[in-house]
Amino acid sequence: MSLETPEVIRTTRFVSDAAGFIEQHAELALKERGEFRLALSGGNTPRRVFEELARCNMPWDRVRITFGDERCVPPDDKQSNYRMAREALLSKAKVPDESVLRMRGEVAQAKAADEYQEQLDRMAEEKGETIYRHDLILLGMGDDGHTASLFPGTPAVDETQRRVVANFVPKFDQWRITFTYRLINAARHVCFLANAAKNAELLQDVIGGNEQYPAARVRPADGRVTWILGVPE
Ligand code: 6PG
Repeated sequence: MSLETPEVIRTTRFVSDAAGFIEQHAELALKERGEFRLALSGGNTPRRVFEELARCNMPWDRVRITFGDERCVPPDDKQSNYRMAREALLSKAKVPDESVLRMRGEVAQAKAADEYQEQLDRMAEEKGETIYRHDLILLGMGDDGHTASLFPGTPAVDETQRRVVANFVPKFDQWRITFTYRLINAARHVCFLANAAKNAELLQDVIGGNEQYPAARVRPADGRVTWILGVPE
């Protein structure tokens, strides 16, 4: 596991700095490998960052967009992470459908997790990889220290083999589809986008490596973790 301590960027220009960070990683990946594999985070914090990203000059046909997690709801449901990404980024930037791999929240959760995992595995195999390696995975953190849909005390946090699982979240009485640590920790880079005005103590705890919180267990074996902390205007 990567022993490097996470990089922390505190900024008063959260939206533009986060979008700029993503663009930098895109440039590097496109130069080195001809494609940029980006996983989008859910929730509310990233919305403005995605809107800013939509204004960037990005070769979207060479970007492969995945989702770190999804609520098990239809894609036009207001809770859908895909819907937020479509409104804030995908439709604004006219990202080609072929560049987007959507978690199908509208089908049975086990089927949705299996098919997503199979699609990632197939893309990895096409490149001779043993596991799909994201260039950049965006994540958020909840006020209980969860990330993606890896919530404290839920089965998904103990999954060590699968790359994508369905996970029931009692606090929301809701099924979710989520990346597992195995997939997240295979990434080249993970970037948490977090609201510095919320959960200040918890952020310190998690960034300090307190593994009682799921977000603290994101430690790419051969990759970096960056926290961008600010107030999403
Ligand atoms: C989700 C997210 C989740 C989110 C955090 C923070 O589907 O809800 O993947 O992990 O990133 O809960 O959410 P906010 O940005 O809304 O605070």
